[in-house]
Amino acid sequence: MKQTVTLAPMEGVVDQFMRDILTRVGGFDLCVSEFVRVSQELLPASVYYRYCPELLDGGKTAAGVPVHVQLMGGDASLLAESAEQVVALGAPGVDLNFGCPAKTVNRRDAGATLLQWPDRLNKIVSAVRKAVPDHIPVSAKMRLGFQDKSLYLDNAHAVEDGGAGKLTVHARTKLEGYKPPAHWEYLAPIREELKIRVIANGEIWTPDDFKACKSISGCEEFMIGRGAIARPSLAKEMKGELTDKFQWSDVEALLIHYNQLLLEMKSDHRRAGRLKQWIKLLSRTYDPTGALFANIRKLQDPDHILKVLGKPIAA
Ligand SMILES: Cc1cc2nc3c(=O)[nH]c(=O)nc-3n(C[C@H](O)[C@H](O)[C@H](O)COP(=O)(O)O)c2cc1C
Repeated sequence: MKQTVTLAPMEGVVDQFMRDILTRVGGFDLCVSEFVRVSQELLPASVYYRYCPELLDGGKTAAGVPVHVQLMGGDASLLAESAEQVVALGAPGVDLNFGCPAKTVNRRDAGATLLQWPDRLNKIVSAVRKAVPDHIPVSAKMRLGFQDKSLYLDNAHAVEDGGAGKLTVHARTKLEGYKPPAHWEYLAPIREELKIRVIANGEIWTPDDFKACKSISGCEEFMIGRGAIARPSLAKEMKGELTDKFQWSDVEALLIHYNQLLLEMKSDHRRAGRLKQWIKLLSRTYDPTGALFANIRKLQDPDHILKVLGKPIAA
């Protein structure tokens, strides 16, 4: 089986700009958009274009990596109609979110709360599968459970039986949130029982984490989120295309490019926020003492932030 790396959907973090930067760096086979919440009625096309401007470009990033659109909701027929719509708009694939832990989302019958009812997962996946043409991949992304892990295999089977071609598993329950560790050992039974592709996700920050996840889960396909932001070379390292992380000067060049792309937001405030968000995650790899982030934390001017970064730091 071919080893693949997918860039994780991350609301408010992995937008079209981040996808552009990271897929140009390389190592990624696929991106998944931030979730698009479908709750009461069909959304106008403009919403999908906002979450996934790549739809206007053949559903691929500038580097040619496909972007699947992620839908989130609890109403099978509305999701099916929405999937049909987003495919008509040019989405090369549809992913279904069964993992979002946010209280506001779960209270409204969407995201991880659905993991309490495998039959509902099955109904949603099969309605969406039936609604879109056979050649369009339909996948799902789930956690190991809502409060506990008792239904993790039932949920995995429900997704497969519904007709999904692929299942990504974030190896934690909703209750476990983002607290380490991720329970990679639960991925092995899923992979062994299912015939469809199983993608391992959660807590891969370094090549060593990757090796451990691969050996514990037995998976060949991976999705990385925060690790990809904190260490932009990680996907390439996982593919064996690089033997070490980027130098800080390379990362700085990425930040400068990102800053240019962010001009499209037409808001210095939001641009500064996005830069600081990325720098904070980069600190995990490049600035373990936190000194760099402390220097820029209070700055509001994006150009000032980049100037401060230009000073040598301990990398
Ligand atoms: C800020 C943030 C936003 C996220 N947004 C989404 C989302 O829109 N859809 C989704 O399926 N998962 C979302 N996730 C979960 C990630 O895709 C991923 O499953 C999780 O971060 C674990 O992987 P990682 O350890 O590689 O980051 C989000 C995670 C974070 C931290």
